[in-house]
Amino acid sequence: MKKLWRSLSNKKDSSETNIDDIQMEHIPAHIAIIMDGNGRWASKRSLPRIAGHHEGMKVVRKITKKASELGVKTLTLYAFSTENWKRPKTEVDYLMKLPEEFLGTFLPELVKENVKVEMMGDKDLLPSHTKRALEKAQIDTRDNTGLVLNFALNYGSRAEMIHAVHKVLADVNNGILNKEEITEEVFSDYLMTKHLSDPDLLIRTSGEIRLSNFMLWQLAYTEFWFTDVLWPDFNEEHLLDAIRTYQQRSRRYGGLK
Ligand code: FPP
Repeated sequence: MKKLWRSLSNKKDSSETNIDDIQMEHIPAHIAIIMDGNGRWASKRSLPRIAGHHEGMKVVRKITKKASELGVKTLTLYAFSTENWKRPKTEVDYLMKLPEEFLGTFLPELVKENVKVEMMGDKDLLPSHTKRALEKAQIDTRDNTGLVLNFALNYGSRAEMIHAVHKVLADVNNGILNKEEITEEVFSDYLMTKHLSDPDLLIRTSGEIRLSNFMLWQLAYTEFWFTDVLWPDFNEEHLLDAIRTYQQRSRRYGGLK
């Protein structure tokens, strides 16, 4: 019966979302997401904050799958900022366990779906179990050619830029780089995203309208989409809504259409 209904209904993709009005040739190549609202989602249900993070982790799986099906090239997810260390230790400890839990459960699926796992941020401060889980995922998926799933973990954009400036100065001092050669393109090559295109679409959930030290350089010409939906409630339909809005925008990069 379900099959019959499906064949009679509009074009659907595997998770029953309607993608008829999505221009498949105009899918944002790089989507970056500030996944916000886990704590509020939990509080509304009188649950501990970590329950919100756990639910948020499940959404990461759904959205990765959908982005991959749609042909998105890169999905960057802000999972832990350099400022998140200020949270209570129990919450930080739990957030540091999530990559392990996520990859422990879903890595085989990611491998099968041709997803390549990457991470950006300062790895040095991550607990060794978190690092190990991410390194294993990076090794197991390094030959995959599909969606790049890029976790921003212990990531802060200002720290990234300062680090880049230090590397530029070192290269100038060592004679590898001339001062005159420092252009926007060259500087971009010193950032953690040097091998990635800049995000085309930024999504932030939970009604907050700010960047919170996320990809400040890379988001210069990105289209922004904000929603009041809390991250644990975010689903494939919301992702499609964001993409529909993106497809209606006129990107002029400071020029004329
Ligand atoms: C912000 O919500 C969210 C975070 C700091 C953590 C985001 C992490 C996940 C969604 C899970 C990541 C999964 C993997 C696989 C690494 P908040 O806690 O600030 O929410 P609030 O503003 O409502 O308090």
